[in-house]
This record gives sequence, C-alpha cells and structure tokens, in this order.
Amino acid sequence: MMKRVEVDGARLLQSLADFAAIGATPAGGVNRQALSVEDRAARRLLTERALARGFSVFQDDAANLFIRREGRDPGLAPVLIGSHLDSQPTGGRFDGALGTLSAFEVLEALAEADAGTLRAIEVVAFTNEEGSRYAPGCMGSMDFAGASAIGAWRSVVAPDGARLEDELAATLAALPQAAMRPARPPPFAFVELHIEQGPILEREVVPIGVVTGVQGTRWLEVSFTGEAAHAGTTPREFRKDALAAAADAIAFLQATVMPGDAQARLTVGRLVVEPGSINVIPSHATFTVDVRHPDHQALAGLEADVRAACARAAETWGCTLSIDRRLDMAPGTFDPAIVDVIEKACRRRGIASRRMTSGAFHDALFVSRAAPSAMIFVPCRNGISHNEAEFVTDDHVILGASVLLDVVRELAGRFAAA
Ligand code: GLV
Ligand code: MN
Ligand code: MN
Repeated sequence: MMKRVEVDGARLLQSLADFAAIGATPAGGVNRQALSVEDRAARRLLTERALARGFSVFQDDAANLFIRREGRDPGLAPVLIGSHLDSQPTGGRFDGALGTLSAFEVLEALAEADAGTLRAIEVVAFTNEEGSRYAPGCMGSMDFAGASAIGAWRSVVAPDGARLEDELAATLAALPQAAMRPARPPPFAFVELHIEQGPILEREVVPIGVVTGVQGTRWLEVSFTGEAAHAGTTPREFRKDALAAAADAIAFLQATVMPGDAQARLTVGRLVVEPGSINVIPSHATFTVDVRHPDHQALAGLEADVRAACARAAETWGCTLSIDRRLDMAPGTFDPAIVDVIEKACRRRGIASRRMTSGAFHDALFVSRAAPSAMIFVPCRNGISHNEAEFVTDDHVILGASVLLDVVRELAGRFAAA
C-alpha cells in the first residue's frame, strides 16, 4: 500500500504566479522567449528552488535543464516528467510552465511526504520548444532524443540579431550550479502535462485529456524575389512585385487548403516585405507557412500544394522563388501502456477523461522516439493559447498535477515496462 501523497495546490499556484512574473507582459501574458535573459532568469529560479530542496541539477549541451530526486535503485532508468519554460512573444502563463512547474511540484510533494520511489524521478525543462525566436521548435527535445543535434542550428539568427550559438553559451554559463551531463541514457518513461490549447475538453466538460498522439507539422520559409521599382511610373507588364506574388499564393492557399480538408491546418504567421517603402514596388517578400495534419501522406500533400501555389504566383509576377523547409515533424503515436496508466489514474480519482490527439506539437513527440511517452491535457478557457489571455482554472491546474503525481508514482515503482 503506497503512502498517501498529494500535491500542494496553493504552492503550485504560487509557483505559476512567480514564473509568470518573469517576462510578464502588460496584457497579463508572458514574453520569455528561448535562451533570452528572461528564459535564463526562469531557469535560475527553478534551479535555486531545486537546490534548496536538496535535489541535483544538471544541464546538457542543448541547455536542457534536469532536476533529479534519487530513487532507491540509482541504477534504474529514471521516470522523466516536465515540459518547457520558453514562451511565445505574446504567450500565456501556462503553455510549458504548467507542465514544468507541476512536475517540480510532484518532486516537492514526494520530498515533503518523505515518500521514496524505486526509480529516480527527473524533471526536465526542454530548450526552445516554441521555435518563435529560433526555428525550429523542440530543439532541446530533438537533441535529447537523438533526432538532431543542437549544433545543427548553431548559426540560426533570431529576429533580434542574436546567434543561437552565443545565446546558448550564455544560457549555459548563467547556471554554474548545474553540472554538465554529457551522457543521456533514455528514461524509463516520459510524461508531459500540458494545457490542451484547443476547445474540446472545455466544450465537452471533461477535465482531463489522455493524449494518444500528436499530429504532424511542417514549417516552410517562402521567399519571392522581384525587382524594386517606382510605384508611379512602372506599368503592370514591367512589374516584378514580390509582395503581389506572396499575396496571390497566400490567398489561394487560404481559399483552398482548409476548406478542402477539415483536418488540415495552414497558417502564415510572419511576413517581411522589403524595402518596405510606400512608393516602392517590393523586391522581396518572405513569409512562413505552418501546415499540420494527423496523416503523414496528407501532410506531404499539403507541402506540395504550398510549393505549387507559390511556383504559379512567382510565374505570374515574374519573380524568383525559394522555399526552405525549417521543420518536419512526422505525426507520432504515444505508448499504449503509459496511456493506460494515465486513464487508470483518472479512474482511481473518479475524474472523467477522454482520449485525444494533440493539434499542437510538444517535446513529448520527440521523446516518444527514445522512450515510452504520453501526455496529460487540462482544459483552457475558450480553447485559447499562444495568446496572452490563455487561462486555466485553479481546479484544473491542481487536478492535472494530481493525476501527474499518481502516474509518476505508478511508473517509478515499476521494475520493467508493462
Ligand atoms: C507548439 O508550440 C506548437 O506550435 O504546436
Ligand atoms: Mn507548449
Ligand atoms: Mn506553445
């Protein structure tokens, strides 16, 4: 019979408020982009709290941050829990922070109750999940899972001009208390708690989502190059208008892709026009495309649609075209045994749950390639996320963390996979 242990709800809510103050925006959200000064401050606070509790703290080459509470058998692979601490430029207080801070609360609750576990438990804050300052997202978890090494993105430059290599070095150096840990044996299991970031749980009044998989995502950067010319003197047949080409392609894709397939998602989130003068025909237009689909083949089809629409628009406007693929995340399926453990934990607490696929990508998608993984979702108000108005009720925060605690205790007591 396991000793009864509960998370301290008040402490967890205070911790969410403390971290929301780091990079707080006037509109109540968070701007704590990857490897920024604010990101470093959040890592420092978590590290200080971990060391004060007597946990060990490590980081790796990708600046993934680990906090370890030892188990009875240090030779067994640990159970890994956590998420990320970086945010979108106009992000909310919960995306990533909820999973990371709830994971830390699990460690604190166990320590306070003096409840031992067979396996060690490690909390992780993965580096750059969002990908908004440095594309692609999930760099830390890709590196951790061996999908791609962090060095591959060394020379990526942020919109603010900072090179990833330099910001990574500064972030690592800002935490001298965290020992470098080069070896990364796969964990026994990984569980990530997160807000749903969509409307389903709230609409159905179900407090816990048991995530069975994640849809696929591709990111493209599209550049049209035309010719700068005078706005007043240049007749249509002489114009090589890069923005007109971009607008044509975007309008066509918005009119066809999602109306043609209810499961498809297409977003153009960033557009840069040069030289950017009111009376100069644009010579350059560069924009990003985020396409998603649960089916791998269909996702490849979406990329082909984007390429074809852009090629037609380039021809219409006498422009040259280049397209860079910045991210290719195949859809992933989580481990049925871990999914089962989460569902059983909900049942034991008498909490309604439903299975679902994630529309957002997550670090768990990559970790699942290296270790059995799954995710727990809680509802967010109006399904809104990647928005400063993102909101989760206190009850749902505490419920999510409580389920995480039960799942972790179950997994940390196992000698072998189910
Ligand atoms: C994660 O931030 C995503 O864009 O899905
Ligand atoms: Mn997230
Ligand atoms: Mn996000």
